[in-house]
Formats: sequence, structure tokens, C-alpha cells
Amino acid sequence: MLSLWRIETGHLWLATSANEVNMTDSERDRPIIELKGVKKIYQMGTERVRALDGVDLVINHNEYVAIMGPSGSGKSTMMNIIGCLDSPTDGTYILNGQEVSEMDDNELANVRNREIGFVFQTFNLLPRVNCLQNVELPLIYSGRRKNERREMAAQALRNVGLGDRMTHRPNELSGGQRQRVAVARAIVNEPSILLADEPTGNLDTKTGNEIMLLFEALYRRGNTVLVVTHEEEVARHARRIIRLRDGLIEIDEPVNDPALAGADVEDVLTDAEAEV
Ligand SMILES: Nc1ncnc2c1ncn2[C@@H]1O[C@H](COP(=O)(O)OP(=O)(O)OP(=O)(O)O)[C@@H](O)[C@H]1O
Ligand SMILES: [Mg+2]
Repeated sequence: MLSLWRIETGHLWLATSANEVNMTDSERDRPIIELKGVKKIYQMGTERVRALDGVDLVINHNEYVAIMGPSGSGKSTMMNIIGCLDSPTDGTYILNGQEVSEMDDNELANVRNREIGFVFQTFNLLPRVNCLQNVELPLIYSGRRKNERREMAAQALRNVGLGDRMTHRPNELSGGQRQRVAVARAIVNEPSILLADEPTGNLDTKTGNEIMLLFEALYRRGNTVLVVTHEEEVARHARRIIRLRDGLIEIDEPVNDPALAGADVEDVLTDAEAEV
């Protein structure tokens, strides 16, 4: 894994300046996620729940988007569809130019494993195995050899500042550290899209900021980042905010003055750029 950044004692260090990693402007303007008239309707007895009611959405490569909206407005449903964990009742989802409903099982498994990293509010780590083994899991699915897996998982953990916690089990870590393990697991395969559904929901402000630092770094490396959040402060780290209501996009607006994660990021960035 390219080690373009790392976290140390709460500081984000970038080895290169922002947004210049292997991506031209025309690549960046290409859609990576396209939803066309996407509906998700649940039949609950006699009642039909319209979780998504015809969503049209285009997200380009290397966007950083926050998804907001009241409880029940369809945020998780939309993220699950974007992450290919669920499929729409109606409408079309085109991922990287390819219609997802036309993918066969192999292609879908590959996309889930290699293109998309998912971070959940509740971390979803395996409790009985240590950090290294948790982060190795997606690499087992993608058929990497044992030594390679070990090395990649170790590097991903170092990248999230947990090089000294590799043999700890999840219950031997703080909440923020657990969520960082979950981020390491989501990025170990170097997916192009990172999806996070309320990743800071169970964290205090300081540890939440550590996670936002990681997302800023991934965005700057050229990844596409989507974060569901209830908190305006968290959303303001993104460059675009989409607000859902009753299964529809109500507002879709740019963030004019995005908050940079961690007050010291700017200084560190300047230092890093000065070093280049
Ligand atoms: N498996 C399901 N079966 C039936 N209804 C569902 C199911 N999953 C979600 N829903 C319904 O779909 C709607 C949208 O749910 P969703 O989980 O997407 O909301 P959300 O915006 O993520 O809410 P929250 O902020 O509380 O997480 C809700 O009314 C919910 O009750
Ligand atoms: Mg939800």
C-alpha cells in the first residue's frame, strides 16, 4: 500500500500535497456513482414503505459527500444500494459505467471486495480475533497469500496510527481505535469508494475527529468518500451535502467553506508541502 499519509498522535501527515494522486481533472469529472429513478419499497403486511422514492444522483470520482436527513429518510437504504449490499426495487444503479443489475455474482463480489470499503456505526469487528486478523479479512476473500495479507494489513493499521496495537483484540481498544481498525479494514484493499454510515455516531468529539482526519486523507489521495451523518459539524468536512427527506433528495449543495478535520491539519499540510 502506498503510504502517502499516516496519523501520529492525532496529526495528519501527508507526503504529497492535496489532490494530485494519479488523477487528472477529466478523470475526476467522470461519474463513479449514478442513480437513476432508484426506488426501494418494503412491503410490511398491507403497508408499503417507500424507503427511496425515485432518487436521481450523480457522484463523480474523488468527491467527498455527506448524506444527511431525518431518521427514516432513506440514508442507510441508499448507502446499502450504493455499496451493492442491497438492490433497488426499481430504477438503475450504474457504478463506474457498469449497470449493477447486470453484473454476475463474480463481478458483484469483486466490486464489493475491491471497489468499495464500508464503515459502519457499530464497527462490526470480529471480537475474538486481533486487529491484524480483522483487517486481513477482506484480503482472504480476495485470495491474497498469507504473507502478503499480513504485510498489507499491518501497513493499513500503521496508516491509521495503530501500528502498536496490532495484536490487541477489539475489546482491548478505545472506541476511536476500534473505528480506526474498521477504517483500516475498509481501505486495506485500496477501494476507490469509501462508504461510511454514521462512523462517528458512537464516538466522542475528539475520537470522531480522528476518523474525519482519516477521511480527509483518503479524499486527498483521490478516493471518493460518502459519509452519512446526523451532525452538521461532521457534514461540513465534506465538499458537498445531500439532504434526504421521505426517500427523496431534498437539497444537494456544495460546502463553500469546508471544515478541515483537526485544527492542526492546515499547519501540518503546510509543513508537508514545504518538505516536498
Ligand atoms: N428491512 C426493512 N424492512 C422494512 N422497512 C425497512 C427496512 N429497512 C428500512 N426500512 C424502512 O425504510 C425507511 C428508511 O430506512 P433507513 O434505514 O434507510 O433510514 P435512515 O435515514 O438510515 O434512518 P436513521 O437515521 O434512523 O439511520 C424507514 O422508514 C425504515 O423503517
Ligand atoms: Mg441509517
